[in-house]
Amino acid sequence: MTDINGKIAFVSGGASGIGLAMAQAFAKRGARVAIADIDFDLARRQAALIDGAAAIELDVTSEDSWQMAAETTRRALGPVSILCNNAGVGGGSGKLEEYDPEIWRWVYSVNVHALLYSARTFVPDMKASGTRCHIVNTASMVALVPTPNSIAYVASKFATLGISFGMRNEFEGFDIGVSVLCPGMTATRIVQTTGRLRPDNRNNALTDERMKTMHDILQTGMRPESVGEMVARAVEGDEFYVLPSPEWKPMVEGHFSDILSGFREPAQPGHSDDLTSFLKAWNKTEMFGYRIPDAP
Ligand SMILES: NC(=O)c1ccc[n+]([C@@H]2O[C@H](COP(=O)([O-])OP(=O)(O)OC[C@H]3O[C@@H](n4cnc5c(N)ncnc54)[C@H](O)[C@@H]3O)[C@@H](O)[C@H]2O)c1
Repeated sequence: MTDINGKIAFVSGGASGIGLAMAQAFAKRGARVAIADIDFDLARRQAALIDGAAAIELDVTSEDSWQMAAETTRRALGPVSILCNNAGVGGGSGKLEEYDPEIWRWVYSVNVHALLYSARTFVPDMKASGTRCHIVNTASMVALVPTPNSIAYVASKFATLGISFGMRNEFEGFDIGVSVLCPGMTATRIVQTTGRLRPDNRNNALTDERMKTMHDILQTGMRPESVGEMVARAVEGDEFYVLPSPEWKPMVEGHFSDILSGFREPAQPGHSDDLTSFLKAWNKTEMFGYRIPDAP
């Protein structure tokens, strides 16, 4: 259980959409929030509307920017104990074989590499703090169901989920909770954000037909405020999976049963990996309550 009241929460991509909604939900519970965003003007305007909030300039693709943002936050508000790695951009650069490598690297640096910089910036202090801490990573439902939209986006969100599993393993024994947020369609301005920030600036916002369609579909999605509330409850209740849109569950079930259908007889008859020893090498005897089969 994490009591949000009185905590300092840092939300990347906090000036808009889901990040802003998380910041509002934390503030409602008595936290002081750092609204950290590359769009500093918007961050300032949003922070002015939230009691005790501070606007922080942050480009999540730069480790130096993370370090400066952490220092500014510490001076303005104090030590961070709730960290939301939420800033993210869409992909959308066509077929894999034609994908622009510059856009690919950009999507990965915002959606994936930023999590490493963020951890290097905040986790050592969290571990040393002696205070209950919590990290929320925003992945997506597309991390659980491989949808046919941008490969770079889908792959980057699979990576976010993978990093979240890694954190969950690593933080066992520390007083740091981890949640991974996998929203379905949410009515935000992510399509415009992506068009505005993408390095080539070719595919600008809503002029591209596919992006306009995507924007229109997302506007039929859930209100970000509902997602933000669910995240705050997950932090309070120390829940790992935050899945606001249960209508996706049959697709997730289908996907996992597809994976399971790939298991056949062992390629080497009679062989069975010694999973107990494998886990023991990392001082583990179980994984999140999963049953580990007995060693052969
Ligand atoms: N909207 C959806 O349907 C949906 C669904 C699943 C997951 N998500 C994820 O939710 C997260 C938030 O997106 P959103 O939908 O609220 O979009 P949004 O565009 O409303 O908000 C994203 C914020 O991130 C900021 N940002 C982008 N690049 C940045 C950078 N380099 N450094 C710092 N800030 C940066 C933007 O300025 C913006 O304020 C993203 O990770 C996105 O992938 C969104």
